[in-house]
Amino acid sequence: MAKFVSAPPQRLFRPTWAEVDLGALYRNLRRFKRLMPAGTKLMFVVKGDAYGHGAVQVSRWAQEKRAADWLGVSSVEEGIALREAGVRMPTLVLGSLYPFETFLAGVQYQLTPTVASLAGAQGLAEVARRVGARVKCHLKLDTGMGRIGMGWPSGLAVARVINPSNGLELDGVYTHLAAADGDKAYTSLQLKRFKGALDDMAAEGIRPKFRHAANSAAALGVPSSRLDLVRPGLALYGLMGRGFEPVMTLKTKLVYIKTVQKGTTLGYNRTYRTKNAARIATLPIGYADGMPRALSNKGEALVRGRRCPIVGIVSMDMVTVDVTGVQQARVGDEATLIGPSGNDRIGFGDWADWADTIPYEVVTRLGHRVPRVYR
Ligand SMILES: Cc1ncc(COP(=O)(O)O)c(C=O)c1O
Repeated sequence: MAKFVSAPPQRLFRPTWAEVDLGALYRNLRRFKRLMPAGTKLMFVVKGDAYGHGAVQVSRWAQEKRAADWLGVSSVEEGIALREAGVRMPTLVLGSLYPFETFLAGVQYQLTPTVASLAGAQGLAEVARRVGARVKCHLKLDTGMGRIGMGWPSGLAVARVINPSNGLELDGVYTHLAAADGDKAYTSLQLKRFKGALDDMAAEGIRPKFRHAANSAAALGVPSSRLDLVRPGLALYGLMGRGFEPVMTLKTKLVYIKTVQKGTTLGYNRTYRTKNAARIATLPIGYADGMPRALSNKGEALVRGRRCPIVGIVSMDMVTVDVTGVQQARVGDEATLIGPSGNDRIGFGDWADWADTIPYEVVTRLGHRVPRVYR
């Protein structure tokens, strides 16, 4: 049963919606935790609007269920949205460092900032002076990702600045792995660099509470990366297989059906021409909803458990599918774009393959126009 619909309240006049199965999310979290050593803390990565699943709803739920120890967001804005929705869980801002004024807002909202430079540490110390309170942060080390973070040994100078005399507390030190899902040798090298840095810090008595490096692929596949805390996203949303259940399904309805003759062209630029007489159904979803235009004449939808090819170009708000093979298809029937139907299933991975991209991109692009319904 649908429990509540994403805020702001949406009226479901257009029958296109995404269902978020919180039961599946719960089982994924439980399974993930069981696979980690006892005592490993879990940061649920909810950046990118919880990979399109709705960060506010999913984080509130995680708080209520005590399903995770931490949340991970990408920006102060994302963190503030959670705080304003009543989410009080420890939350690490994984990105958005500059300008350093963002630190002040972050600290006021009790978000934990990432420090990735000496200037950042000094900027945060200034914020601590202004608010007159000890500020916790996590230091980011770049061990081979090449985005943000201190190299080594230059990072040691930053770690030294993050101390109580500057109003700061080094709550965590972390790094991010560039190829944990494929390149074992490079992952080992990154972890070796990270552990070397931690040893150097320990030799000076600098011992952060949380040392962390692992995303989903690393936590599941590289046991030595787990350390004190793991930061999964993809696996929890069921977007990487390995026994984790998909959490989100995307559905719409057949809103129009017509029978056309052989040789009829469909859609913009007439890219599809029927080879025989055909029954064509129109679905009220398009690229403005995040359906990749690359699915034109390539993707499929499930109607009554049968695969129906997308024919013609995906338009902004509509797409056409060939339902000739589903004789019983009627206006008002459900069409599953992502998810199971009958014995078949289409996943975000299929969309990613059809669109020549990765599941992260297609799932985070699912538009705000598509209401999320939580079950
Ligand atoms: C710093 C950081 N940690 C953890 C994650 C979660 O990664 P995944 O979704 O692959 O588990 C991400 C996602 O990109 C990230 O940027």
